[in-house]
Amino acid sequence: MSLKGKRVVLGVTGSIAAYKAADLVSQLGKEGADVTVILTRAAQEFVRPLTFHTLSRNPVVTDLFGERATWDPEHVALATRCDVFCVAPATANAIARLALGLADDALTTTALLIRCPRLVAPAMNDRMWEHETVQGHLTTLRVRGWTVIPPAEGVLACGSVGVGKLASVEAVFDAIARAAGPRA
Ligand SMILES: Cc1cc2nc3c(=O)[nH]c(=O)nc-3n(C[C@H](O)[C@H](O)[C@H](O)COP(=O)(O)O)c2cc1C
Repeated sequence: MSLKGKRVVLGVTGSIAAYKAADLVSQLGKEGADVTVILTRAAQEFVRPLTFHTLSRNPVVTDLFGERATWDPEHVALATRCDVFCVAPATANAIARLALGLADDALTTTALLIRCPRLVAPAMNDRMWEHETVQGHLTTLRVRGWTVIPPAEGVLACGSVGVGKLASVEAVFDAIARAAGPRA
């Protein structure tokens, strides 16, 4: 499925599954997508910006207040030229901040500026996934037009077995491709 010319903004949050986002970026790039990655502070505990810079061939956004070569705020520029916005993996914390409309970092501030299709791929411990607060926030996001890419069942990083694993890279890729619409 070609994504030639499609501009994808990928938010990566502080989940143990953050390393899988590197493969996702690689796959998207191979299909012609122009991917820009936003890493939360917690995500940077799991994966380095260098990995995403190299795979996406674009600068990685790690800080709302970082120095920039051009005058326009990076998060505004990104949001206005975006065809698909996807947060994968999305932590319980990120889901809450997105549902509440907080704007306390580059990811959540950009999310409020986005008008293109928005997707979220949760990844967390099964007990967190079942929590009524998490489910409530996901309902809020769905009602507001977000597509929730359901997590898979399996052995989780914490050792328990249940629902909460990040959906496969293929499933997230396919959801992004569908959201991007017909090829350019
Ligand atoms: C080893 C480890 C793995 C974690 N994995 C997850 C996870 O898969 N999902 C999740 O919701 N939180 C996970 N957390 C907790 C988040 O990193 C934490 O809530 C953090 O504040 C999330 O910040 P962010 O949403 O801004 O990225 C993990 C924490 C640690 C120490």
